[in-house]
Amino acid sequence: MRRIAVCPGSFDPVTLGHLDIIQRASKLFDKVIVLISVNAAKTPSFSATERMLMIQSVTENLDNVVIDILDGLLADYVRDVGAIAIVKGLRAVSDFEYEFQMALANKKLYAGAETVFLTTSAENMYLSSSVVKQIASFGGDISHFVPAEILTDIQDRLVKE
Ligand code: PNS
Repeated sequence: MRRIAVCPGSFDPVTLGHLDIIQRASKLFDKVIVLISVNAAKTPSFSATERMLMIQSVTENLDNVVIDILDGLLADYVRDVGAIAIVKGLRAVSDFEYEFQMALANKKLYAGAETVFLTTSAENMYLSSSVVKQIASFGGDISHFVPAEILTDIQDRLVKE
């Protein structure tokens, strides 16, 4: 049996924290689908296709990782692809309540998959796409936060004129 995991998120843009979780998930499952999904509470800075291309370029070396885009319910997607897990990174206590709520809701919508939380690496505790976007918009150095391959793409888009 192929054990498929879905790693959902906004990835707006993908950070080294996301990449760390994707890499670790790829060691635990036969196949990992990185799923660019809609977070109703956020207005993305990058289109879904731009986000997909960025993730593709930084996961090229991971043979069992594929990228997809979802404009619908995560639980339905997970059921449709036969995934057994939803993998999320957990940074701090502040993430917990929101993630716990989503995990319970997804379990209610589709009981066939477990939400699995991977604790973020210590160096990525503070890292988020919004922090990256804020720093980049003021011309700050984001090279420690995002993969080198996509650094220029992100800077070009976000830096304020
Ligand atoms: O990276 P984010 O923004 O924290 O990820 C949240 C995301 C996109 C995974 C979540 O909003 C989601 O699952 N969206 C898809 C729509 C859905 O199923 N919503 C109900 C979740 S309980």
